[in-house]
Amino acid sequence: MKVLIADKFEDRGMVGLREAGCQVAVKPGLKDAALADAVRESGCNVLVVRSTKVTPDILAASSHLKVVIRAGSGYDTIAVDAATARGIRVSNCPGKNAVAVAELTFGLMIALDRRIVDETNDLRRGVWNKKEYSKARGLKGRTLGIVGLGRIGYEVAVRAKAFDMNLMYQDVIANEKIEKELGIRRVGFETLLAESDFVTLHVPGGTKTEHLIGHDQLARMKPTAFIINCSRGGIVDETALAQAVQAGTIAGAALDVFEIEPGASDTEFKDPIRTVSRIYGTHHVGASTDQAQDAVADEVVKIVRTYVETGRVINCVNQTEPVTAT
Ligand code: MLT
Repeated sequence: MKVLIADKFEDRGMVGLREAGCQVAVKPGLKDAALADAVRESGCNVLVVRSTKVTPDILAASSHLKVVIRAGSGYDTIAVDAATARGIRVSNCPGKNAVAVAELTFGLMIALDRRIVDETNDLRRGVWNKKEYSKARGLKGRTLGIVGLGRIGYEVAVRAKAFDMNLMYQDVIANEKIEKELGIRRVGFETLLAESDFVTLHVPGGTKTEHLIGHDQLARMKPTAFIINCSRGGIVDETALAQAVQAGTIAGAALDVFEIEPGASDTEFKDPIRTVSRIYGTHHVGASTDQAQDAVADEVVKIVRTYVETGRVINCVNQTEPVTAT
């Protein structure tokens, strides 16, 4: 089995793939036509990606390609319909980085409440301003609205409970077990927006959730509320968000993901949202802890090993005719 890894990948994953008898080629930083060439030239059966986009042209580059694995949970960077049409299976690693994303969400929540980024920036400039920064509202007793109570939303809720926050969630699926376990209430989207002190988004990207948060939704939030997005960029309309924060419609926001995000090998970030004060940002690093990346690498090895041994693709997100391992 030939495996092409087109992004940064943990060494333990590389070792595991070789132990599973795979021929592994590593080519991080390639994209578009260059990646299509690498897929063709390597004759890979399995392509492993993290941030790199897998376009229909890349999928069409070689008839040897049978499986694409997203070394993460979301798979909106992969042209799944085109893969399905070619009988290429697409698989992911759901839940493996949930704790890491929840941890960053919490970091951002506290950073927003305490204005840690502004405070640090002032200190760096030699400014001491205890008076200005002594106005945090605190987390205890505040309402956290979680949009999407999947694996990440759940891990956020667990941590929020330890902070004595009041919890509510909105999800198409009710989860009574978690409601009982954590004392979290399922509410409608409108109620969540109107009552939350923090709104945190944990739904998949894609057309169904595009601009789920726009002008109308922001207008329903409290002027003291914050919004946090560690899921996918397109879920928040950035123009509407910038206007809402500048107008004081909401108090601020923190984004780990952006509408137009640089690729893995890009080093520039020109998104105008970066200049808006009270909007904090990180570099799509929610999943980027050692623990999470080790767990993701182990899952990738498990997927490939199972495929080698049985021809079955675990965590497959698309329906195709059965593909035989080669
Ligand atoms: C995910 O979908 O799990 C994350 O976007 C993964 C990542 O940042 O690599």
